[in-house]
Amino acid sequence: MFNVENIRKDFPILSRKVNGKPLVYFDNAATSQTPQQVIDVIVDYYSNYNANIHRGVHTLSQEATDKYEQARKKIQAHFNAKFAHEIIFTSGTTHGINLVANGFSSLLKKGDEIIVSALEHHSNIVPWQMLSERTGAILKVIPMNLDGELVMSEYDKLLSKNTKLVFVNHISNALGTINPIEYIIEKAHQVGAAVLVDGAQSCPHIKPDVQALDVDFYVVSAHKMCGPTGQGMLYGKESWLKKLPPYQGGGEMIAEVTFEKTTYAELPHKFEAGTPNICGGIAFGAAIDYMNAIGFDAIATYEHDLLEYATKKLLDIEGLKIYGTSKHKTSVISFNLESIHPYDVGTILDKLGIAARTGHHCAQPIMDYFKIPGTVRASFAFYNTKAEIDALVEGVKKAKTMLS
Ligand code: ALA
Repeated sequence: MFNVENIRKDFPILSRKVNGKPLVYFDNAATSQTPQQVIDVIVDYYSNYNANIHRGVHTLSQEATDKYEQARKKIQAHFNAKFAHEIIFTSGTTHGINLVANGFSSLLKKGDEIIVSALEHHSNIVPWQMLSERTGAILKVIPMNLDGELVMSEYDKLLSKNTKLVFVNHISNALGTINPIEYIIEKAHQVGAAVLVDGAQSCPHIKPDVQALDVDFYVVSAHKMCGPTGQGMLYGKESWLKKLPPYQGGGEMIAEVTFEKTTYAELPHKFEAGTPNICGGIAFGAAIDYMNAIGFDAIATYEHDLLEYATKKLLDIEGLKIYGTSKHKTSVISFNLESIHPYDVGTILDKLGIAARTGHHCAQPIMDYFKIPGTVRASFAFYNTKAEIDALVEGVKKAKTMLS
């Protein structure tokens, strides 16, 4: 049974105070908090079996290697990849995207077309612009509407035999919109294009099945789903990962090296040069265990209830406008209060112990579309409560009184 009060006891940080007030943590889309179960795994690693992996015959190295590879298998099972070697450990979503973009540099030619969406985070725009500059490929953008949804009829028009790649986030970090990635993938495949889905914002809320989606690449960050920062994963279909060249050269990613020639290791090691974030990988596995023990269906139901409650309460405040009003969204509310700068609202909320993100959320094209400098963004996780939402609402009212 989902019991938020019990769940909250797993998160030591939730009982601290900020500016003398109980912390209300509503910046979960930036990073989630870490349960004791994951903290324990990190402490255990450094206390008991810290060693480099895949290299030593000694016991510590073997223990660390086993746990690291077990974590890969947990991640494989969670995302339902066909093979464990389709899971590449990365430092995070941005690393995964850059790895794929770099790989496609050698596969694209002038005139090829790449499609991204108007709802992307900068990390799913800039690497493709850099790729376009290197290859002469043309970047096209699926437009959005005032609800913060992608316009699929325009996407259909952008697709052609020249389309080679489509990149889209599963859920918008700035607005919370859940994009119709099933449709996007199916249509892209009809013209022979590959699809990369940025799952940084979906992984804390839903459990994607990469085989059912038939997606070519799916990237996530562990720290969005109760794991540590500096750790993520790239899922790639085996056929694509075999085709793409390595991203970085170094130890671990080779089969044989001479000064004349190097041959590369098999997957996944071909893409994992150097000593990885070993503890991070193991802790990522522990975070996945933790979230699955609660259950993604229970998480989605609970968070949806929080979203509806908060939306209704915030809209009762005169002058408050919510950006991102799709029916298909997760527990993210981006808003502004009259013409008050979001930074000023965020500063007052912080004085009240409430952590919300302010600014453009690394998604400037969305802010340009709405002609605003940024928003205040409250993003909820399964350990948040309605009482905390009440505190936010009171805080916003206070900000309005002070700043109007
Ligand atoms: N991409 C993260 C966010 O949306 C950092 O806040």
